[in-house]
Amino acid sequence: MLFSVIAAVQKRVGPDAKPLPGRALRDVFAPRYVGTAVDATALDREPGYREVLAQQFSAVTPENAMKWAVVEPSRGKRDWSGADALVTFAARHDQRVRGHTLVWYAQNPSWVESLPADELRDALREHIRLTVDRFRGRIRDWDVVNEAISDDGGMRRWFMLDKLGAGYIADAFNWARDADPDARLWINEIGAESIGPKSDKLYDVVKRLVADGVPVGGVGFQTHTNLDGIPPSFAENLRRFAALGVKVAITELDVALPEPFTAADEDRQAQIYEQAGKVCREQPACVGVTVWGFTDRHSWIPANQPGNGDATLLDGDLNPKPAFTAFQRGLRG
Ligand code: G3I
Repeated sequence: MLFSVIAAVQKRVGPDAKPLPGRALRDVFAPRYVGTAVDATALDREPGYREVLAQQFSAVTPENAMKWAVVEPSRGKRDWSGADALVTFAARHDQRVRGHTLVWYAQNPSWVESLPADELRDALREHIRLTVDRFRGRIRDWDVVNEAISDDGGMRRWFMLDKLGAGYIADAFNWARDADPDARLWINEIGAESIGPKSDKLYDVVKRLVADGVPVGGVGFQTHTNLDGIPPSFAENLRRFAALGVKVAITELDVALPEPFTAADEDRQAQIYEQAGKVCREQPACVGVTVWGFTDRHSWIPANQPGNGDATLLDGDLNPKPAFTAFQRGLRG
């Protein structure tokens, strides 16, 4: 008895939600969505985190919980706990889910990487089939292929390309469509916001897929940025993709600051969030904006980009930073 009381108390961690200024982000941008990446542990343990998540956002993306290494760490042994918890939470709070991500060069289980080509193809098809099917009708948008283009404007070299050839992309989309014909299927890319070699290659790939009848419904621009800000050609870039007949979205927005950051850095960060909201708002084909986490308490930046941090809308205690109201303004116009 004492044990379970202690366990229950220990489980309730994290700061309380604070009142946030203005209308909720989800209301400001409706009927388009405002989403966030969700940290599975925080969702499980932190009531304040859950409260802000439900109140402010109309869409969620699992930050890690649907990646292959997480759902099938050893062959045939699947763990859907984090994914299920998020999809259940989203349904309860009238949020759409962006499934993330079916095919990516990172966060794959080690058993997958060593498979010979024919087994790899079968395993990938099975992974896509089971994952998409499990959430059929509950996940409206899937990041099917993530980060397939290299920075210099070629196809990214990784084991899937090496073993299966570039056809793995069309196959992945077709298998996902077979598993849920009603889901909108996305190709999602990092660092392709500006017009240049990388986005040109992405454009060629998408154009070809569309021409071949491959069911690509949208192109996601992650928009992980820093004080360099939003590239001036982003709006024009979105326009050319939209002209191919696909939807576009900002899928992983954050603005990393160098530590220690100053008040001036935070003001500049706020402008960048505002601009990002505005770029999506002004593009009719842009269906929504997703931030990659909403509190500095759970941002991927400090662990992955040492010396940087403070990349999100709220500080580690869930207090709003200047970026919060600026982002609202960008979405609202
Ligand atoms: O789950 C393990 C845990 O068991 C272990 O104790 C711990 C020790 O390091 O690691 C945990 O896994 C970490 C995982 O996040 C969950 O916290 C991984 O090491 C870490 O590499 C992983 O980082 C994620 C990263 O993708 C992996 O490349 C970030 O949280 C996640 O924000 C980030 O997200 C990606 C998008 O999916 C695609 N676009 C880029 C974006 C940023 O890299």
